[in-house]
Amino acid sequence: MADLVRFGISIPAPLLGRFDALISAAGYPNRSEAIRDLIRNRLVEAAWEGGTGEMIGTLTLVYDHHVHELGDALTGIQHQHHAAILSTLHIHLDAHLCLEVLVLRGQVPVIKQISDALIGMRGVKHGKLTVTAGGHL
Ligand code: NI
Repeated sequence: MADLVRFGISIPAPLLGRFDALISAAGYPNRSEAIRDLIRNRLVEAAWEGGTGEMIGTLTLVYDHHVHELGDALTGIQHQHHAAILSTLHIHLDAHLCLEVLVLRGQVPVIKQISDALIGMRGVKHGKLTVTAGGHL
């Protein structure tokens, strides 16, 4: 772990009260841990919005495998971007629906391109991308 630095924050009492209630409900052991998480979340958001650098994404898709040629098209996009797709998980949810989870690693534009292409396909009922910055935070 990096060296820790202590610093003071001036904050209106009611705002701190609301923050303490929030982090207590979320199970944080102390303010420091909660504030570190807030800072890391904002840094990840900024990296994603900045559009540069390598990030890791988890893409969840729900789709109807009966839609004509959808399975082949989804697989085709994944082969096209094989270098950026670290792993996939496929679950047959019921007789019609499939759940697929892809772990992506690459530059922000690459992750966006793959994610948008897969989510936008006809027959994909829901898609959601979550990004993180990996281990360098
Ligand atoms: Ni399936």
